[in-house]
Amino acid sequence: GVTVCEDKNLIQVRLETPTSSCSIYLNGAHVSSFIVNGVQQFFLSEKSAYEPKKAIRGGIPLIYPQFGPGNIQTHGFARNMQWSIKSTFSEGNGTIGIKFELKDDDYSRNIWPNSFRALYSVILHPAHLELRFSNKNTDIKPWNYQLAFHTYYSISNIQNVHVEGLSQYEFIDKMKKAQKFTESRQNVTIQEEVDRVYVSIKPDTPIVLVDQSNQHKIILKSENLNDAVVWNPWVDKSKAMADFGDLEYPNMICIEAGQIEKPKLLSPGEKQCHKHFIFPSSKQSPSL
Ligand code: BG6
Repeated sequence: GVTVCEDKNLIQVRLETPTSSCSIYLNGAHVSSFIVNGVQQFFLSEKSAYEPKKAIRGGIPLIYPQFGPGNIQTHGFARNMQWSIKSTFSEGNGTIGIKFELKDDDYSRNIWPNSFRALYSVILHPAHLELRFSNKNTDIKPWNYQLAFHTYYSISNIQNVHVEGLSQYEFIDKMKKAQKFTESRQNVTIQEEVDRVYVSIKPDTPIVLVDQSNQHKIILKSENLNDAVVWNPWVDKSKAMADFGDLEYPNMICIEAGQIEKPKLLSPGEKQCHKHFIFPSSKQSPSL
């Protein structure tokens, strides 16, 4: 079912199937929790702010219309604007979904002078999460956008974790002045601050987060999203972030699906749709 409640002074929607649940704040249309068979998949910082116009640290900040620093505020404004509920729907298998809407307003136009309409559907399946983002240019001039599902995963410890599916891809290394390198490893591990945008990922190759300590895997698939970010702030950056605990970094990794290197151009009236799928698979959920 779908319930709407107040949580930390923000409005939150909860979706539930017999085997899974997720929570979404209207502030940012921010998915803050995704539980399958009793196992929480997402990391959420204990230091996170929960305030209108502020991004939540953890879960899935929705990054739009800009990724990273640039002409407008870092990672855009979609993650800290109030979205509205457009509809709820159910599909077979107990699957339940909710569609949120965001349109330009005085606040957004002040930051980014373009008219748009974005729709974001969060669809909870019995054992996976499906995210659909579409946006339409409602302006009389063309504009560009970037997009990312900035997902924070909960892990046992960063030492036990590797990421598969990135081998042979080029990446922009944001720790090395955005120089480009090619990934030579089958299993990408993390032993320091890592901030990389892997580019031009083939649409049919899943990226897999493997946590060896508890035999937990999360399989990620995307449609119409070319890039994937791997980020862990490690020691110094963790200390520098006010809304992130100094000692939380071993328990999280961000693996983001996005359209980053090559922004999408939308002509007046044009629309684009992007999808992302998160399939957890563990001993507790033998269905995968
Ligand atoms: C990642 C970026 O996507 O997000 C990093 O690649 C950035 O450079 C991180 O530090 C967190 O960003 P923010 O704005 O949520 O602190």
